[in-house]
Amino acid sequence: MHSDSREWVAEIKTLARQRKAIILAHNYEPPEIQDIADLCGDSLELSRQAARTDAEVIVFCGVHFMAETASILSPEKRVLLPRPDAGCPMADMITAEALTAKMASLPPMPVITYVNSPAEVKALSTVCCTSANVVKVVNSRPEDELLLTPDRNLAMYAASQSTKKIHLWDGFCPIHESLTTEDVNRVRADHPEAVFLAHPECRPEILRMADVVASTSGMLRHVAAAKERAFIIGTEQGLIHPLQKANPDKRFYSASNKLICKDMKKIGLADVHRCLKDMDNEVKVPEHIRRPALKAVEQMIALG
Ligand code: 13P
Ligand code: SF4
Repeated sequence: MHSDSREWVAEIKTLARQRKAIILAHNYEPPEIQDIADLCGDSLELSRQAARTDAEVIVFCGVHFMAETASILSPEKRVLLPRPDAGCPMADMITAEALTAKMASLPPMPVITYVNSPAEVKALSTVCCTSANVVKVVNSRPEDELLLTPDRNLAMYAASQSTKKIHLWDGFCPIHESLTTEDVNRVRADHPEAVFLAHPECRPEILRMADVVASTSGMLRHVAAAKERAFIIGTEQGLIHPLQKANPDKRFYSASNKLICKDMKKIGLADVHRCLKDMDNEVKVPEHIRRPALKAVEQMIALG
């Protein structure tokens, strides 16, 4: 065990070089994990990078569905998830069996599935989406009626930005769902000058209060270009680290102290070190699921 995180960092860098590994981290990961990563980003950027890299090993610092997506895109690479128990409660709110039953109960229509979902569900879907491209994906379909799974809040947001009829799945992110109008009013009263940014996983009434609705990377881009100096962040608190790092002269306030995803905080430097040393916790999607899931993910990536 190292008491000094600098020793972990040095050893992780050496091991990553030896293993020809790239370290990817989601914007919600703890600061020390984001700081050691070769690339940080939102779900869409990380899947694109996973597809593009010529590294032999991908250490995915995020949650299980993200590592699965990387494995779907890069079956020849070893995808390691430093903590196998880092899951996503929203992704657990849908199964292939339940989706099959829902599809049978509706007239034939395309199924758009948020990447926060199991590989088996992607395999049954027409196309995937992320919070960064959901509106683009919905509007790219020629059909007037669609089923969007598993996030009902993301689906309601997409419906508000489109003329299409969107059927919902009753899933949600418990972290974003916990944000209330009272929370936002309280922080706004303390910081009336601040711009309020909300993630589309928040409830509709929160999105109606927001000055800007964006994915995590959308928020990073918006803040970098903004002339305002203060921002209320309506998403998981991990995003405040890259926001503050890139904008040291601006101020950031979390919309609520409930906005912490336990799963995104599981990975520590010791986990990254151990998984690179032992090459364990590989995430691999079986070929009969991977092939149809890849079609849905590639259709999304092809939209740009
Ligand atoms: P994005 O980074 O794609 O906005 O995703 C948010 C999220 O909840 C990932 O789990
Ligand atoms: Fe899942 Fe929400 Fe955590 Fe993202 S923040 S991993 S959607 S539980």
